[in-house]
Amino acid sequence: MLYNVSPRTAYELLKKVATPVTTRLFPRFPKVTANRILGIACTGHGASIAYMDSSGVLISSLLERWTGVKYMMMFSAAEEQAIRYPQNDVDRSINYIFTCRSGKFPECTTFEQSFMPWMDWMLKDIGVRAEDIDLVITSDGHFTTGWARLGPELKRWFPKAKVVRAIEHHEIHQRQAFWQSGFPEAAVLTLDTCGEQLARLKGRKLSGTISTLNQSGVHKIFREFRFPEMSAGLIYDTTTQHVGFPQGEEGKTMGLAPYGETELFDQLREDLLLYDDGGFKFLDNDKFTTVLNEYVPAREAKGEITQRHMNVAYAGQAIVNSIVTNAWKAAMNLTGLKKIVYAGGLALNSVSNDIAIRATQPDAYYIAPNPGDPGQGLGCVLFGAYEIAGWAPRHNELPEYLGPKYTHEEMKDLAFQCGYPATLPNDLEPVIARCIANGHIIARYDGSAEFGPRALGNRSILVDPRRPGMKDYLNSRVKHREGFRPFAPTVLEEYSKDWFDLDISSPYMLRVVPILPDKIDLIPAVAHVDGTARVQTISNQENPGYYRLIDTFREVTNIPLVLNTSFNIAGKPIVEKPQDALDCFEQTEIDILALGPYVISKLPLDRYLTEESSA
Ligand SMILES: [Fe+2]
Repeated sequence: MLYNVSPRTAYELLKKVATPVTTRLFPRFPKVTANRILGIACTGHGASIAYMDSSGVLISSLLERWTGVKYMMMFSAAEEQAIRYPQNDVDRSINYIFTCRSGKFPECTTFEQSFMPWMDWMLKDIGVRAEDIDLVITSDGHFTTGWARLGPELKRWFPKAKVVRAIEHHEIHQRQAFWQSGFPEAAVLTLDTCGEQLARLKGRKLSGTISTLNQSGVHKIFREFRFPEMSAGLIYDTTTQHVGFPQGEEGKTMGLAPYGETELFDQLREDLLLYDDGGFKFLDNDKFTTVLNEYVPAREAKGEITQRHMNVAYAGQAIVNSIVTNAWKAAMNLTGLKKIVYAGGLALNSVSNDIAIRATQPDAYYIAPNPGDPGQGLGCVLFGAYEIAGWAPRHNELPEYLGPKYTHEEMKDLAFQCGYPATLPNDLEPVIARCIANGHIIARYDGSAEFGPRALGNRSILVDPRRPGMKDYLNSRVKHREGFRPFAPTVLEEYSKDWFDLDISSPYMLRVVPILPDKIDLIPAVAHVDGTARVQTISNQENPGYYRLIDTFREVTNIPLVLNTSFNIAGKPIVEKPQDALDCFEQTEIDILALGPYVISKLPLDRYLTEESSA
């Protein structure tokens, strides 16, 4: 029943209509001498900042990680008041967007109150202050931080800096993708729900672009897709809302879709036309919402998930798979390039990514590790370094872990003063690997935090993938997630082909791939209902400590992978600081916290090393 008309083949079944192609060269920015660059991005999906200098330092932080409040937003003070208590139609419409799903105004802070403490915290270890910054790059207002309200503040805060403002939303997504890839030249695809209102388009918004970039910064635009009529993100948002998940929880729809049947998709597929230029025609959003409501009423947040709701998730996923695959194909055809890079919120849809890659077979591809709006702080900094300051950062492919650093001294104090048994093992990884193999729940906290939304080992909860009951055990004791949602594996890179249908590394968990049929029963805790997994591959070079932990687990169990889920409590962001890690450990039934080189456990460590859990 599942995937009996697979979204993988649905793309081929739909009609295609050619439309004309236009190309234009995007204007270059004047060069500025700058060695220390700060990028700031703030959208309806949260805020991020990034710092890069010509000596090779690169740090980035999401506002939510600093504050500990998930999806926290940042406004200017005036803007916050204007949107919270709207007096005109524009502010009323923004207020509606923020409040319609949750019924309340989003958790937020103001630039005036929080920006400088946040930035000082991020830069504390490298001794850089606001007056040292040479160049500041900001996104244009998306929903928030319009230049008129923020600009004068930035000029005051960064007295020596050249402030470059108002880079368009999709211009930044393009840089997020391309400048991290290391490719000399590439087709650049961006897809999301929408960017900001653009004066050059008489107030219209974009929902995606196809362009090319090369290492000289030459940028050609081939296609711009307009919101709302060509927004794949809007289709997915509407689907997600209908199945009862809030903004930011689109991954739940992706997890629910494989439980669905094709009934609704079969009904909707004739309404989808795919164009050769990557665009598409589908029901307008009101009509789509009406069709969904006629099929099944929208699910309340905690309501029952019926088979029809699962069918809605399936249909939304299948439609988006088709649109994304068609856009990948168009990006390569229009530009004539077989290397492709991809960013925008849609690029977090790991199911669509894998289907598009298999269908289009690029020579090489790069999907930004933090491709959505929270990764735009880094996009701004890369834009500044390559295209305004005119130097290449000392990174080829950027590392996964870009958060601020913490000292072992700080962790030692917490470990030995927290009141739980704490030790400093001579050889950490074999101890942790044996505890995982015994079925216990381990939190691993080490080094800098992951830059993207997915935990990649430094802020991860790790358990044994072999145990069929582990998913429920983990959910009941720590994660409290919906039972239908899958957990992901981290596999040693050199073993990934033996376990998954995957012939290339997948370091950022951005592809959902089939588990090889003869291996599914060996790793039930990471197998989704359709036999797939959202794989993270890990190499020794990327993260030696995490790699060695899994390799030691392999020596004990013959399984070269562990279940890896983010180190947080439901509804909270991934832990950032050592104290956050300890708080999460205390508030949940995590058995062991590996805090840097220290091991903190609820019971004496020997018990976990010698006794099996009930999972
Ligand atoms: Fe976006």
